Amino acid sequence: MEYLQTPRLLLRFFTAEDADLLIDLDSDPEVMRHLTDGRPTPPDEVRNGQIPRILAYHEGTPQYGFFAAVNKASGRFVGWFHFRPTRDAPHDIELGYRLRRDAWGQGYATEGSRALLHKGFAELDLPRVVARTMLANVASQNVMRKLGMRHARDFIEDRFPGADQRAVEYTIEREDWARA
Ligand SMILES: CC(C)(COP(=O)(O)OP(=O)(O)OC[C@H]1O[C@@H](n2cnc3c(N)ncnc32)[C@H](O)[C@@H]1OP(=O)(O)O)[C@@H](O)C(=O)NCCC(=O)NCCS
Repeated sequence: MEYLQTPRLLLRFFTAEDADLLIDLDSDPEVMRHLTDGRPTPPDEVRNGQIPRILAYHEGTPQYGFFAAVNKASGRFVGWFHFRPTRDAPHDIELGYRLRRDAWGQGYATEGSRALLHKGFAELDLPRVVARTMLANVASQNVMRKLGMRHARDFIEDRFPGADQRAVEYTIEREDWARA
């Protein structure tokens, strides 16, 4: 089991017992607005799709995966971060996050992401890290900019039918991270 600490958060790997946390997170239409046009993830898909995929990640590449973020002071589940090889470009490591609405606007996405960038560059010696989000997702792009990431390209994200599919990719190189 891998742990990462930030000033306010504990990031730990997911387990099979975490399905209800994910079901609850994805049941908020505001959380899902830029992902599925607001539709919740069906509980069966979480239990039989997401959780097995997350656990398989940890087995295949133990240094990468999906981290459940817990508030250290309250013990409450705040949301998740991922840090993993991308589907289309397996040599790129992708940073991502999804937080409960009651945790937004307090700097948690930036705080957890900083710890993952530190792990990626200082421990794993990665050359660069990428992050992707929908063009309409201004909050997510703000997090990327606060992390020192730069806009790299526009693309069409066709995994979310019905939504505005315009998407952006941001990157940060190790040299830029080290300088910052
Ligand atoms: C995107 C998300 C992770 C941001 O989390 P967060 O903890 O609120 O982010 P932070 O507080 O670290 O930083 C967010 C920044 O964006 C700003 N922001 C927040 N909501 C915003 C909005 N709707 N429009 C513009 N800016 C916004 C904040 O003010 C902050 O910038 P600041 O520190 O300069 O004020 C969170 O909103 C979320 O989980 N959304 C739902 C899932 C999602 O969209 N995930 C990303 C998919 S790629």
